[in-house]
Amino acid sequence: MLHGCRTRGAGLLLAANIPGVRGLAPGPGLCQSRHMRIDYETIGKSIDALTEGECDNVALMATVACELHHADDRFDWTGFYRVVAPELLKIGPYQGGHGCLVIPFARGVCGAAARTGQVQVVDDVDAFPGHIACASSTRSEIVLPVRDGRGTLIAVLDIDSNRPAAFDDGDASALTAILDSVFRGAP
Ligand code: SME
Repeated sequence: MLHGCRTRGAGLLLAANIPGVRGLAPGPGLCQSRHMRIDYETIGKSIDALTEGECDNVALMATVACELHHADDRFDWTGFYRVVAPELLKIGPYQGGHGCLVIPFARGVCGAAARTGQVQVVDDVDAFPGHIACASSTRSEIVLPVRDGRGTLIAVLDIDSNRPAAFDDGDASALTAILDSVFRGAP
C-alpha cells in the first residue's frame, strides 16, 4: 500500500478530459504510438492524472508499465519486479513478451538494482555478468529501484530493448522522477 495516497480528488473517472490522454476505452485510444520517442514530461503528467486517488501499488504499476511501454519504440519489454520476501523479487505488472517469474537479489540486472539500490544502465546485456535472458532478442536494459514514501524498496522497474545501448542518464533521471512522483508521492 502506497505510503500517503495520491489524494487530490477522484481522478480516473475523469481521465477522458485529461490533456494527452485520449479516451478511456481499452484499445488504441490509450497507450498507443509505438513510433514515438518518449516525451517524459507529458507522459509523467498523464500518469499523474491517471493515478490520482489511487493507493494500490499493483494498479499504479500496471498504469506506469502501460503508459511507458507504448510511448517509445526502444521499449520492447517494460515491467516491474516486486519485493515479495527478503532478497526475493517476483514479477508484477508488465507489457511485452514473457517475463521470468522469480529473481533473487543475487542474480541478474534486476537483482543488482535491488541489492545496490542503484539504477543499472546496461549497454550490452551479454557483457553483464549474471544477466538473465527472458528474451533472446534483448540487447540492452535499464533497471531502476522503486521506493515508497518511507524510502522502503518495494520493487524495481525493468525496461528491455532489442537495440544495443538504447538507454542513457537522461532516461535514468526522467524515469526516476516519474517513479518518485507515483510511488513516493514526490511533487
Ligand atoms: N533481464 C533481467 C530479467 C528480467 S527480463 O529482462 C524481463 C535481469 O537480468 O535481471
